[in-house]
Amino acid sequence: MIKLKNVSFKYKSSEDKVLNNINFSVKDGEIVAIVGKNGSGKSTIGKLISGITKLKEGEIYIDDLEVSKGKKEVGIVFQNPENQIIFNNIYDELSFSLKNMEKSEIEDRINYALKEVGMIEFKESDLYSLSLGQKQRIMIAEVLAKKPKYIILDEPTTMIDSQGKEKIYGIIKKLKEDGFTIICITNIADEILLADRTLILNDGKIIHEIKKEELMDKAYLLKDFGIKNPTILDLLIKLKENGINLDLKEFTVNELVKELKVKLYNEKAN
Ligand SMILES: Nc1ncnc2c1ncn2[C@@H]1O[C@H](COP(=O)(O)OP(=O)(O)OP(=O)(O)O)[C@@H](O)[C@H]1O
Ligand SMILES: [Mg+2]
Repeated sequence: MIKLKNVSFKYKSSEDKVLNNINFSVKDGEIVAIVGKNGSGKSTIGKLISGITKLKEGEIYIDDLEVSKGKKEVGIVFQNPENQIIFNNIYDELSFSLKNMEKSEIEDRINYALKEVGMIEFKESDLYSLSLGQKQRIMIAEVLAKKPKYIILDEPTTMIDSQGKEKIYGIIKKLKEDGFTIICITNIADEILLADRTLILNDGKIIHEIKKEELMDKAYLLKDFGIKNPTILDLLIKLKENGINLDLKEFTVNELVKELKVKLYNEKAN
């Protein structure tokens, strides 16, 4: 579990506090989305949890260890893969932070990580030849090769085209199935649909929490933050207004059709 207790933060150069008494926890296996306007402090939270930025006020626990001791359990991926790449060769990039391990262990980890992000056939490729979406998948693989328990994705698809986005959503779903715990900082509605819970950050404070099962009723809260409902959610809300209440778990089109069929069949049967 990740737990933040009364976390406040001010950069040296900032006048006001960027984070103001933040409290939340993320349970093992959960995906939690954090949304908020530009400058609301989302990335600062990610950096504090991953230990990149040093905590000054409050407490952060990673599995009962204080963040400074538990940070190796946390991997973080940023918005722009171009800013994270160090080497041109994918193998060099992925093995960079595995330096002290045996060669066979490094090999196993790289193979596992590349398979997990669907990029194993690119093992011998150069990063410059890849699309931005593929580069981002390599950045996710780099984190996975370190075998963290917790993964923070800081706007992982904001710069990626729609096809690349879908691929990364598939990876996020698979990571959840595999038991990873994920914090996804985002402003994209489709990413909120992947989350078990969404926290809305405003002016350094968490002002709302929306559980997945509350999404239909509370989606309007997201509109104030410039997040437009995904079509499927709008459709569900409209159906509900018209007396057709579908309870979706995954918010996929296939699930919608399936539930609709069940509903229609039951109505006919009655
Ligand atoms: N290294 C820094 N030094 C000083 N101020 C900073 C630093 N990093 C961020 N800030 C300021 O802290 C505030 C919160 O920044 P942060 O990057 O956490 O917000 P964010 O919600 O991630 O924004 P965005 O949506 O633009 O990514 C902003 O006002 C930002 O200008
Ligand atoms: Mg940010």
